[in-house]
Amino acid sequence: MASRKTPRLSRRHFVTSLFVGGAAATAGSTALRSSPAPSGAPATAAAAPVSSDWVEAARAQIPALQRSLYFQSGAYGPSPHRVMNAMKAALDLQNEAPADPKIIAQITDLENLCRTRIARLTGADPTEVALTSNTTTGLNVVLWSIDWKAGDEIIIGDEEHPAMLLPVYNLERRFGVRRRVVPVGDPSRVVAEVLDRLTPTTRLVALSHVSRGSGRTVPGRELAAALRARNVRLLLDGAQGPGNVRVNFREIGCDYYSLCGHKWLLGPKGTGALLVRPDALEATPISWTGSRAQATFDEVGNVTWLPDARRYEFATRNSAGFAGLAEALGWLDELGWDRIHARIIELAGFATQAVQASQHLAMTSPIAAEARNGIVVVRLPAACKATAAYQTLSQEDRMLLSPVTHPQDIRISVHFFNLPQEIAAVIDRLDRYAAAAVAKA
Ligand SMILES: Cc1ncc(COP(=O)(O)O)c(C=O)c1O
Repeated sequence: MASRKTPRLSRRHFVTSLFVGGAAATAGSTALRSSPAPSGAPATAAAAPVSSDWVEAARAQIPALQRSLYFQSGAYGPSPHRVMNAMKAALDLQNEAPADPKIIAQITDLENLCRTRIARLTGADPTEVALTSNTTTGLNVVLWSIDWKAGDEIIIGDEEHPAMLLPVYNLERRFGVRRRVVPVGDPSRVVAEVLDRLTPTTRLVALSHVSRGSGRTVPGRELAAALRARNVRLLLDGAQGPGNVRVNFREIGCDYYSLCGHKWLLGPKGTGALLVRPDALEATPISWTGSRAQATFDEVGNVTWLPDARRYEFATRNSAGFAGLAEALGWLDELGWDRIHARIIELAGFATQAVQASQHLAMTSPIAAEARNGIVVVRLPAACKATAAYQTLSQEDRMLLSPVTHPQDIRISVHFFNLPQEIAAVIDRLDRYAAAAVAKA
């Protein structure tokens, strides 16, 4: 539900103070000069909050920022040049002699580097990381590992992405699985809501870690502990997790965490990973497989799988993509996760303030600093459709946002490379869009 707050500052005053050096304009940046002038924003950008040299240097690496005001990291993150270069270098290396054992070994090293860096980012062990093509693949590995019987139950959240919904609908049709849905709108209630729905036939709980439609985070640690005590496994959909919020797989304690490289981690499209706890391996049988998943096999039906999460990988894969993701992770690590996360929270707070200053817009995503992350979801007035606003802003203003589940909700994915001037410009534009729609209604 949207939280509508009394504006603390008028929108006009908010935007003006940003651009002429008011209260919000203390830690300067001149970077908007190198970005397209946002429509509706003053042409000259003066000092603005919370930017500094490291942000400027990072922005210079990301070509997509020259073209648009980029607020779509929750869909597809824009990669820096060095990620593209690392991919190209891996493709060139592979193409020198794809079947040469020396080249194969070097390419495998790049995949393993990616695995190690994913593990480092997520507080997992490299043996707990299966490389995948996307978040959805990891969800399917887990969803299909269960020998479902008619009447078995799965608990999911009421804000799931089609990446979760469609495989679950498929299980319903294929095996007669029953879906039970928990409201996740109030994170403090999620554990109780899940426990309320547990039955002796519950085989799995599967939820988004961070909701793509509201930015709310489920209390993974508490939920994992409660379910472990009841011997029920927990799968978290982490598509909107790593890169946006801190994730520590071991600390959360869930059985499975599926993530992708192509959103907040700014990696190549079509890269991801599934994290699997070692003690869940045996209870998570393989559903589809092939060469390279095995430790040993013979021609008469014997097979032993790799002893770790790599058993869920098989066959030829997108090695250059993993080389690119390894590069993205190395780069973000160099930039420093502490300041990346601090900046995301600061910018999201800044966006929140701008929305609260509007007469027409309201916040759907969390307002409190401790609950905030880069997913800022704005509720437009009833006279607007978020899909139409998205089309208009992308085509006319080169502002890339995303409509989400609620017809009036539009998501502004705020990453560390975004500028406060950009945020002010986009919210100003949404405000004018909403005002025009209200006046016309
Ligand atoms: C919560 C959530 N899960 C899954 C996905 C799908 O991700 P992928 O394309 O990596 O499978 C998305 C994409 O937006 C998402 O937001």
